[in-house]
Amino acid sequence: MAALDRTDLLVIRWAQGEDGPAVALLDQTQLPHVEQELHCTEVSVLVEAIRVLRVRGAPVLGIAGAYGVALAAARGADVEGAASQLAAARPTAVNLASGVTRVLSVCRRIRAAGGGPEEVAQGALAEARELHREDAEASEAMAAHGCALLRELVPGRAMRILTHCNTGRLVSGGRGTALAVVGAVHRAGRLHMLWVDETRPLLQGARLTTYEAAREGMPYTLLADNAAGSLFAAGEVDAVLVGADRIAADGAVANKVGTYPLAVLARHHGVPFVVVAPRTTVDPATRVGADIVVEQRDGAEVTGEGSGTSTAPQGTRVHNPAFDVTPPGLVTAIVTEAGAVSPVTAPDLAELCSIPLER
Ligand code: MRU
Repeated sequence: MAALDRTDLLVIRWAQGEDGPAVALLDQTQLPHVEQELHCTEVSVLVEAIRVLRVRGAPVLGIAGAYGVALAAARGADVEGAASQLAAARPTAVNLASGVTRVLSVCRRIRAAGGGPEEVAQGALAEARELHREDAEASEAMAAHGCALLRELVPGRAMRILTHCNTGRLVSGGRGTALAVVGAVHRAGRLHMLWVDETRPLLQGARLTTYEAAREGMPYTLLADNAAGSLFAAGEVDAVLVGADRIAADGAVANKVGTYPLAVLARHHGVPFVVVAPRTTVDPATRVGADIVVEQRDGAEVTGEGSGTSTAPQGTRVHNPAFDVTPPGLVTAIVTEAGAVSPVTAPDLAELCSIPLER
């Protein structure tokens, strides 16, 4: 573990230190108060870090999975076994499995062509770095497309944007997804207020989005998730911007639990509900929203057991889905690095993402 310089928000990087190759992560469970890097020198440490959300958010999970396979190759470990463990660490964000598969395919190709362990390791790392670079590039393009779309959806005045969970630099090789768009709106002088849902139970909004908003000098206000309804009713929300963990071929959006109620509220109050995600989050193999596997997490996250602030009687049964699914009909637009689809239809999404409709 190493303390970080505050100016240096390195979310994930490949490290080559005294302990050999490692995947270095900014430990998001310690934020906002402690900025500390975790060096994963073994794939098992990285898998655990993914499970407990030291690194989290769909795009960066793809990067972590890719570097994880490169780590296994560099350490001379069982690459196939490591890839399976990494891909299974969390089920909903499609980027994790796709990042793993992308680097694993390179390893297999090099091996099949007669390459030795050194060549496999070099090829795997180069591919992981390329994925990392592409993600940074995608986030710049999403920010530009999203900012332009918001000019049309909310014309003529500085806007009040509500967001849920955390979708900024912490989830990406670049500026992020939805929060990257908010950043672009802010830099254009058009952000009046960023409303930040605290995002129960793990508080990604309260701990991480506020941290990023403060670093970027945005005007922001934190609210309890269940205060969103009265905020809409008071006419205080001009647009909702969220990210996604997996988008089905029909345009259904899996994102942090609590997203779907916001989409319902937005529709009721006539407010645009915009999803921002790279094309790697669109999964043509998942036909409709009902096919998305929603991760169920430990009930202790809700009751606070283990953290010293238990709020429910011992033995209380808990329902703790990490995500929910918003049907495409409630989504005003999906913004990717290739542009936006609005309204959200399967053919338009497929065309934008260059995905064949029938597989
Ligand atoms: O459980 P988490 O914190 O990994 O969930 C993250 C989210 O739901 C984000 O909104 C999503 O990954 C989009 S970030 C681009």
